[in-house]
Amino acid sequence: MNSAYFNYPTCLPNIPNDLLQSFDEINAQHRLAEGTKKDPRWAENPTWPISIHDVRPDLNDWINSVFVPLLGVRVATHYMIIRQSEIHNIHRDAARIMSFNYIIHAGGDVVTRMFDDDKNLVDSCSIEERRWCQLRVDGFHDIQFNTYTGPRFSVIVTTPKSIDYIKLD
Ligand SMILES: [Fe+2]
Repeated sequence: MNSAYFNYPTCLPNIPNDLLQSFDEINAQHRLAEGTKKDPRWAENPTWPISIHDVRPDLNDWINSVFVPLLGVRVATHYMIIRQSEIHNIHRDAARIMSFNYIIHAGGDVVTRMFDDDKNLVDSCSIEERRWCQLRVDGFHDIQFNTYTGPRFSVIVTTPKSIDYIKLD
């Protein structure tokens, strides 16, 4: 399902499984990526349901070997864990225009929703597991757990804000 907000680029290969760490390995690190530590949502709220973790260098290298030829810039790579919560506030990402997410475990029937400037729903998608999905995240968006089977676990790629939206094929 491709739209102005969600895109599955066929030019992006699936991540080799041997580059991915297990959920337990990532979760056991209890380590938030450097940028996350400064974010007041984590500093002021220890129960904030999203954690951002560093990836191993070999995964970062592999992802950049795929993205640099396509975008002409290096990208930031992290694991993201989202636990079910009532506080997935509708928000706009301040630091980026587009995101590439590779969902390892969806965590249930989970819908990513996009809204216009008046916060009217304009699009939604249950993003498939183990497939790159390109998202526009400069507009309002949130996620909604219709069912919860466990933490949602993804690799996320962040492009520099200087890069405008480029829909990959
Ligand atoms: Fe976001």
